[in-house]
Amino acid sequence: MYSFEIDQNIPKPQLYDDLHSAALALVDGESDGIANMANVAALLWQFLPDLNWAGFYRMVDGELVLGPFVGKPACIRIALGSGVCGTAAASGETQLVADVHAFPGHIACDAASQSELVVPVIHEGRVTHVIDLDSPDLARFEQEDRAGIERLARTLAGRI
Ligand code: SME
Repeated sequence: MYSFEIDQNIPKPQLYDDLHSAALALVDGESDGIANMANVAALLWQFLPDLNWAGFYRMVDGELVLGPFVGKPACIRIALGSGVCGTAAASGETQLVADVHAFPGHIACDAASQSELVVPVIHEGRVTHVIDLDSPDLARFEQEDRAGIERLARTLAGRI
């Protein structure tokens, strides 16, 4: 059994430090990528407030395919360059979107989503996955969230 105690009310950098330690504890020594993505999605869901979706898309044969997540059922395949996830995957750049309705081509998987953070996971120079967080609140994500999830993405590279 895993039981992580993380106080959601601490400053964000500390919250992401704790999350990072917990994620490392989960994936360390485990080579199964699906198990690792599933546990990290559950961890993000448990400890990051105000989310309605948290999970992964995987790069498969040149398109993004849905991976482990927590939230409502979502779009299964996303073309590179399409929506927030496809833009992150095509550019290799994090997409921090304060208002998804203002993002050209945003793909609405859950009508509740108002803001979104998508971080590419880059392994050996290629985008292998994206981490996608959605929130029902406008402007939910800040630079501190971006830094925390980018660090997590670097740690997960090659382990998912
Ligand atoms: N909104 C995303 C699609 C994935 S869902 O949010 C889970 C996008 O525009 O790429």
